[in-house]
Amino acid sequence: MIDQANHQAKLAQANAFIAEHACEVNKRFYPGYHLAARYGWINDPNGFCYALGKYHIFYQFYPYDAKWGPMHWGHATSTDLIHWQHEEVALAPSEDYDRDGCFSGSAIEHDGKLYLIYTGHKVLVEAGDNSICREVQALAVSTDGIHFEKLGVVIEPEHEDIHNFRDPKVWQDEAGLFHVVFGATNLKHEGEIRHYTSSDLQHWQFVSVVKEMEDQSFMYECPDFFELPRKAGEASTWVLATSPMGQAPFGYHRQNTSVNSWQTGTFDGMHFKAQGKLYEVDRGHDFYATQSTATPDGRRIVLAWMNMWKLPFLNYGDHWCGALTLPREITLRDGHLCQAPVKEVESLRTTSYALGDLTLKSTIQTLSTNSALELSFTFKPQNNDAEQYGIALGNSLRLFVDRQTKTLTLFRLDLNATSYRALELDWDKEHELRIFIDNSSIEVFVDGGYDTMTSNFFGTDHSVTLYSTNGSATFQKVTYHDLATPLFHS
Ligand code: FRU
Repeated sequence: MIDQANHQAKLAQANAFIAEHACEVNKRFYPGYHLAARYGWINDPNGFCYALGKYHIFYQFYPYDAKWGPMHWGHATSTDLIHWQHEEVALAPSEDYDRDGCFSGSAIEHDGKLYLIYTGHKVLVEAGDNSICREVQALAVSTDGIHFEKLGVVIEPEHEDIHNFRDPKVWQDEAGLFHVVFGATNLKHEGEIRHYTSSDLQHWQFVSVVKEMEDQSFMYECPDFFELPRKAGEASTWVLATSPMGQAPFGYHRQNTSVNSWQTGTFDGMHFKAQGKLYEVDRGHDFYATQSTATPDGRRIVLAWMNMWKLPFLNYGDHWCGALTLPREITLRDGHLCQAPVKEVESLRTTSYALGDLTLKSTIQTLSTNSALELSFTFKPQNNDAEQYGIALGNSLRLFVDRQTKTLTLFRLDLNATSYRALELDWDKEHELRIFIDNSSIEVFVDGGYDTMTSNFFGTDHSVTLYSTNGSATFQKVTYHDLATPLFHS
């Protein structure tokens, strides 16, 4: 028997705590148009869906401190994917099977109700050691899309030595059958993604392993699995998105603690036939655990946690930590997955500036001191002889083209977190950058989202400066827009 009253009491406690303490948040780094908690810690996006007439985003949430703790599900809703309204906390640990956390999962509308399928996490040894645990998939339901009742455990591991068994992503096929995929470490200590089906969301049958271990991945966190929108007559492409643990870095790749990775292929209902290997989706520092949904107008949109495990969280003392990326639309171009900010972001633009082409010869030019900005320009590496050119954000971050390494480099300069990420550039082509700056984060869309780089940085000098060093560089078609910050005060 589920103790619904206990769950409601835990939720009421969390909601009251947030209402009382939200005013203590230090907003020096707080985002203006990316979703962050009113108080406390965020990690993975969960339950991203369009249901009961609006978009819902849930997230891994510890409401009592700006660090990871027993996971709740925070919740926000929106009608346009940009203006989010904070809702009451949706799930809190309250039952024996989820007593140490309501871990990641997903959501689906069915029969006019909103269902959440999530992982109940229970630590089996001393509190704090999350590796020896029992994880199960559990269900919750809501009739108003805000208040959730727990329905109990629906999928359990078949062996007590299986400890990683989490992050269910649910969808319904055209015939009405429900599917779920989630990550597990099998008894050979290899990562795999399991696939189950159900006709009622309550009773599930194991169907297949859609992904086995690749490159030493011992666990696939937060899998997502979906077919890309296609026009009549077009071939079907499926995307397997996941965050493998245990894969080694190489070259400029996989330098983060864990790496959100995608793969395309075909799916016959049982088996996923991959085209190529899993590859790192975003080449910045802070991008993890993507979750996607379909929009009513047929787009496939994805969001990620804009942070990373094991990094110094410099805003810890500010009583909030973690945010979600902009929602991005995924499309296929020449067989490659591209991501572009949803078109709705244009509604954030307030004042626009078109500067044309700017040639800088070993010099700098400050464009703006606005902390919420969209900036774009193009450049031709072959035409520029500067050793480095790009933009500087105060003293905290530089994004530059580097003549020696032939890369686009994102360099975070804080002394506690100095680090760079680099993306190889085709030196013979013209490239386009579209950049979103939001107080302490940057999202860079390269060549129409063919590549992306997402990172946090920490500084209170918001000047945005173009520069070139040791030579000349032309920034072509420079345009920027001041952006509204609807989420800053909410
Ligand atoms: C990924 C993850 C998930 C888990 C959640 C816990 O970031 O480790 O696998 O469900 O975070 O907060």
